[in-house]
Amino acid sequence: MNPNQALWEKGDFTQIAAWMRQSGEAVVKSLGVKPPLRALDLGCGDGTTAVPLARLGAEVVGIDIARNLVAAGNKRAAEAGLKRLAFREGDASDLQGVGDRSFDLTLSVFGAMFSPKPFEVAKEMVRVTKPGGRIVMGNWIPNDPTSFVSQLLKISSAFTPPPPEGFISPMTWGVDSHIVERFGKAGVPKEKISMVKDTYHFVSPDKSPAQVIESFRRFYGPTMNAFEAAEKAGKVEELHAQLLELAKAQNRGTGGGTSIPATFMRVTVSL
Ligand SMILES: C[S@@+](CC[C@H](N)C(=O)[O-])C[C@H]1O[C@@H](n2cnc3c(N)ncnc32)[C@H](O)[C@@H]1O
Repeated sequence: MNPNQALWEKGDFTQIAAWMRQSGEAVVKSLGVKPPLRALDLGCGDGTTAVPLARLGAEVVGIDIARNLVAAGNKRAAEAGLKRLAFREGDASDLQGVGDRSFDLTLSVFGAMFSPKPFEVAKEMVRVTKPGGRIVMGNWIPNDPTSFVSQLLKISSAFTPPPPEGFISPMTWGVDSHIVERFGKAGVPKEKISMVKDTYHFVSPDKSPAQVIESFRRFYGPTMNAFEAAEKAGKVEELHAQLLELAKAQNRGTGGGTSIPATFMRVTVSL
């Protein structure tokens, strides 16, 4: 099986996405969408941004590589009565069946960045977006101590076997020069790309940082892999201690709950 797909189908990202709804809605609100509008949400998971986009009246297609998340997204859409929102399986680096210039907005919040083929992803996003339309990406930032997920993945990868030769880290999508190079190869000049730092919040009022880390351990593919490897190497406690220290240090929640602000790179490409 495609390892990218296997990684995300391994866990249950809906358990993590539950803490991301507030910021997902805020990101969508900040886009100022004015229907009628066709939007594509790539690496949409179970609809953290696709659902609020559809609620604003956009016609939304959510594409994700993980079949369990596509099913969870379609269930949420049906429960919410959102008839103009559909989720389907697909790969951000090869959008089969998606026509050229078919969307006013192509959005990907911590989604397409996880494809191992970043140049193909940039090319596909540009191809399917209409001239005059926008591409908006949210990407974690490497080596930024305030970018919670990049730090969590950095710790996790230190316990996981090295990736295959030539593997391009998803975190490179948080670096200006890579972003400009990738969209540049897809035909977009630098002046059309804006990159600003923004903040996402992981909010779980009823879970302590220790419980949050436990959920990452049980449900988040990359962390699950790290714990499996750490177990074989007898390093589970070390990994757990490092992740817990990170979550506690970043937590701004009060009353026993968790609220972690996480810096990300917001990329807007105007076509
Ligand atoms: C961190 S989750 C974010 C999900 C969602 N955007 C959210 O904010 O809740 C990353 C998502 O990207 C999806 N993904 C990873 N690689 C992908 C690819 N090559 N094509 C499409 N989706 C992909 C995963 O299945 C997962 O749903």
